[in-house]
Amino acid sequence: MSQRNIIITGGAGFIGSHVVRLFVNNYPHYNIINVDKLTYAGNLANLKDIEDRPNYKFKRLDICDFEDLYQLFQDENIDGVIHLAAESHVDRSIKDPFTFAKTNVMGTLSLLQAAKLYWESRPEGYEGKLFYHISTDEVYGALGFDDTLFTEETKYDPHSPYSASKASSDHFVRAYHDTYGMPTIVTNCSNNYGPYQFPEKLIPLFINNIRTRKPLPVYGNGENIRDWLYVEDHARAIETIFHRGKIADTYNIGGCNEWRNIDLIKVIIATVDRLLGNPEGHSIDLITYVTDRPGHDARYAIDASKLRRELDWQPSLQFEEGIERTVRWYLENEEWMENIISKEYIKYYDEMYGNR
Ligand code: NAD
Ligand code: DAU
Repeated sequence: MSQRNIIITGGAGFIGSHVVRLFVNNYPHYNIINVDKLTYAGNLANLKDIEDRPNYKFKRLDICDFEDLYQLFQDENIDGVIHLAAESHVDRSIKDPFTFAKTNVMGTLSLLQAAKLYWESRPEGYEGKLFYHISTDEVYGALGFDDTLFTEETKYDPHSPYSASKASSDHFVRAYHDTYGMPTIVTNCSNNYGPYQFPEKLIPLFINNIRTRKPLPVYGNGENIRDWLYVEDHARAIETIFHRGKIADTYNIGGCNEWRNIDLIKVIIATVDRLLGNPEGHSIDLITYVTDRPGHDARYAIDASKLRRELDWQPSLQFEEGIERTVRWYLENEEWMENIISKEYIKYYDEMYGNR
């Protein structure tokens, strides 16, 4: 197998940390460079088990800093990019859309431009290069409560500032292929769950609130539907597509696993109560219906048949096993959670790497 020098952006975040771990473990002959700004969502504790590996390097860098990125492409002779860095939480995007436009749109553009300038300066040009952009199913908008699914042909119709910024970044990636011939791939994935997810997102937030006996804020009537995929299955899909995906193509990735929020919440409550040794139904009264998220998309559901048909990928884990593993992980890693909640880790990294 050939040696490669790959930037993975957002590698200190939730999905990125699983992707970095998988590549570092499975490809000792690849040079993996984790580029992450370490915003509130980035946490190097997510990568403790692989941080000393000889094929892994961490570089604290804002993807909006074009000059630094371009320098890194030259220093490391980068031939592959797996781009996950983003502002990723819908509720934050409603309060602060500018940060989302800056990171998700301008950050992606500066990464594309750094790749373009560096790759076009090489004698082999774009040969053997790949810019792989990780996107979301939210760019397709919202489905009704019927049996339709998002396919790769579904028209973009984003509703939140988050999904609008991701849609815009997807368009820029495709424009770099169509205009400059850059080898690009875009994938759109459904909701991920699993270890190391920042506890502002539904599943880790609710596990922690049950553990600490805090209210569980259910938006609206709790009937919105999401399609949940175990994060390691997403990382495996990314590995497959990075190596065997068709240039300029798009693949949808999903769990084929739709849940109404309220039903999922009841499963989480039952699992946490059981694992903590609480009597059945002990935490059900923590459910608290609150004002709905503005523009709350009713339903997301992915048709991942193209990926299964063309690249033989499918989710490996049944949801029952995935949620059990996930709840166990959060209950057994209280320290990880406490460090985030106390914001200790942000102070620590700012001291270590400077406050950017
Ligand atoms: P996350 O919020 O957990 O992690 C994002 C990471 O990006 C953090 O480590 C953060 O420090 C880093 N980052 C943010 N701004 C940066 C900047 N300007 N420069 C460099 N690094 C920066 O996000 P996640 O949930 O792991 O999502 C990763 C990617 O996958 C995102 O692009 C997201 O849109 C996409 N996605 C997420 C899901 C999901 O369910 N979480 C589903 C589909 C697609
Ligand atoms: O579909 C993929 C997307 O999934 C990713 O692109 C996003 O980065 C990721 O954050 C996720 O977006 P959601 O908005 O679907 O995830 P979140 O965990 O915020 O919410 C899941 C559902 O639960 C959603 O319908 C809103 C609801 N919710 C969420 C929170 C945090 C609540 O009812 N209460 C809550 O406190």
